Amino acid sequence: MRFFLPTKVFFEDNYNESVDEIKKLGESFLIITGKSSKKNGSLEELTNIFEKLNKKYEIFDETLENPPKEMIEEIIRKFGKNWDVIVGLGGGSPMDAAKAIAVLCKNDISIEDLYVQSKYKTASKIICIPTTSGTGSEVTQYSVLTINNVKKGFKHEIVFPTLSILEPKYTLTMSKELTISTGLDALSHAVESALSLKSNSFSDLYAFKAIEIISQDLPKLVNNLSDYSLRRNLMLASMYAGVAISVTGTTIAHSLGYSLTTDKNIKHGLATAVFLPFEIENSGSKKAEEIKAIMGNILNFLKKLEINLNFEVSDDEIEKWAERVKNSSHVKVTPGNYTKEKIIKAYKWFFEESGLFGG
Ligand SMILES: [Fe+2]
Repeated sequence: MRFFLPTKVFFEDNYNESVDEIKKLGESFLIITGKSSKKNGSLEELTNIFEKLNKKYEIFDETLENPPKEMIEEIIRKFGKNWDVIVGLGGGSPMDAAKAIAVLCKNDISIEDLYVQSKYKTASKIICIPTTSGTGSEVTQYSVLTINNVKKGFKHEIVFPTLSILEPKYTLTMSKELTISTGLDALSHAVESALSLKSNSFSDLYAFKAIEIISQDLPKLVNNLSDYSLRRNLMLASMYAGVAISVTGTTIAHSLGYSLTTDKNIKHGLATAVFLPFEIENSGSKKAEEIKAIMGNILNFLKKLEINLNFEVSDDEIEKWAERVKNSSHVKVTPGNYTKEKIIKAYKWFFEESGLFGG
């Protein structure tokens, strides 16, 4: 069994002790964020700390969802490479972008080179401050970027965040839609990790705890968006699911979902979670029974959350997507032997049988 978790995590610290950590990390900080960090108060709290500590900082607040290569290049052009620390503040996109930028700051390599582990050994330090509960990026060595309209993750131990600051209060202003889609991303991480052929007793501990929390509390939270203790539980579960995938990676549902996000603009967590029932049923794994014992029928769970996607799709597109999934690294770690035919079957099941599409 193997696991490696080098990130220092402060959960609900309210910057009491994490300030000392920030102070030690360096003198210059580049903040990568989106627009929501102004609304939820997280950006102001962070910049107040930098002001107090007399640290140099700049802010890029135009992070796009599913961070495209061109945006990363633009940030480097605009802000240069001379930064001690890159801060990813927001959802998965700013955190994943921050990880890529941290590597590029210390290496003269292209974005494509990020996918070749041997091309780099160093990175600027990374702080992650999630303001959604879903990605788990705050405790993982992964970053998912979009290159030529294809979502693809790179991994490297060097991009584990040095420090992650988790404050559930930042998630209180999330809309119902974002709460559901990010919560389902975390659920997907947990379920996929539990099923993964790379799972072990350590990752299972976190995966199953996350499944338990999310299946109980996400439906409650959807009807009570400002409940702090539910927000807190979801942030904890999302982090647990992140720990689980730091060991196992994700499996087939993530790979199947990527095309729905890039080609049909479906939110990542939704695009992924709709394939979980198929993945569970086709795993032939005893873990599937354990997951059902905790959360019951996952298809019913998704239907109770009123998940229903709708867009035009052709057989040619499904064929193209299946070809990409077949060649993805997820296939090897997913139980159930996914041939191209079986991958097409998974898409057809979703479009024609699941009841999650076209209604
Ligand atoms: Fe994900």
